[in-house]
Amino acid sequence: MPAPPPDAQTQLAELISVEPCGTDGVLLRLRPEAPVTQDGAPLAPNRFFMLRREDGLSPAIPRPFSIYREVPTEGDGPADLVFLVKVIGPGTRALAESAPGTFLRLIGPLGLGWPDLTTPGDPWVFLAGGIGSAPFFMAVESLTRAGDAAEEAGTEPPAAPYLLYGAATAGLVYDVEEFAELDCSLHVATDDGSLGFRGNVLQLLDRLIADGLVPERLRIAACGPLPMLRAAQTWAAARDLECWASLEELMGCGVGICNGCVVETVPGSELGSWPNVKACVEGPAFRCDTVVL
Ligand SMILES: Cc1cc2nc3c(=O)[nH]c(=O)nc-3n(C[C@H](O)[C@H](O)[C@H](O)COP(=O)(O)OP(=O)(O)OC[C@H]3O[C@@H](n4cnc5c(N)ncnc54)[C@H](O)[C@@H]3O)c2cc1C
Ligand code: FES
Repeated sequence: MPAPPPDAQTQLAELISVEPCGTDGVLLRLRPEAPVTQDGAPLAPNRFFMLRREDGLSPAIPRPFSIYREVPTEGDGPADLVFLVKVIGPGTRALAESAPGTFLRLIGPLGLGWPDLTTPGDPWVFLAGGIGSAPFFMAVESLTRAGDAAEEAGTEPPAAPYLLYGAATAGLVYDVEEFAELDCSLHVATDDGSLGFRGNVLQLLDRLIADGLVPERLRIAACGPLPMLRAAQTWAAARDLECWASLEELMGCGVGICNGCVVETVPGSELGSWPNVKACVEGPAFRCDTVVL
């Protein structure tokens, strides 16, 4: 029976600020009325929330967005949640045009997030395409925290990740200055060469490996446009490397009820006992050898 994750809740959150970001994006900072984790622990990276205005000026169906950042507030109040939103249609436009001080419907956290990125193994290479960078900020932060904890405990820290951030042009490499502050090896690519390497993130990855700047044995987590995810899937399969893709399927409910987000599974794979999965419940990230992209 489909059900929201046990930690999901629906609540109102005050919109604290709306800042432009890149050519067509905004950073929405929300202050939830109640904490979104029960134990004060940070949210797992790549959980997502459904967001909607409550004044009838946005579509009735809320829209899904990955949590981008959690920002502690002064005092004991819940941390603020920041969403990085690309404005493409009525739902995102309505959110971007909301006035600070209004209250938005916030449903979540939903989905399973990334797999546990701290499991021992080859270093992670995060492939971000445009707005697909949103679920990687907290992914890098989670590995930094795990590294600090391992250092304190005198155990082996996870390898620092690589973040390859690509877009069509410089204005779509959102919030790159903040990504540059993270504890990871950041490389930028643009199709038109207006920022960083000229080409796509997989061409950049090939170049970095050839130059000895990224090891040949690696694990991939990718989020971005479907052609990029398919290319990552093919690239990793040809090298027998672990690869995960976070899917930005159209979603109606976010909790497994509407069947709006079904994804075909690969027969015989780990998920192949059923012909499809729901990205909102079993995803949004899937191992690339288990789903048909
Ligand atoms: C788990 C998840 C996390 C997401 N995280 C983010 C995020 O952090 N930031 C962000 O900006 N967006 C994110 N998205 C995408 C976001 O939900 C859509 O852009 C949004 O729902 C569009 O709503 P709209 O009303 O503005 O546009 P719509 O009118 O719904 O769409 C405008 C056009 O874009 C197409 N479209 C809509 N959604 C998608 C999609 N998901 N993929 C491809 N085409 C689409 C529509 O078919 C239509 O042609 C995420 C989606 C999912 C499923
Ligand atoms: S969005 Fe409704 S089932 Fe996934």
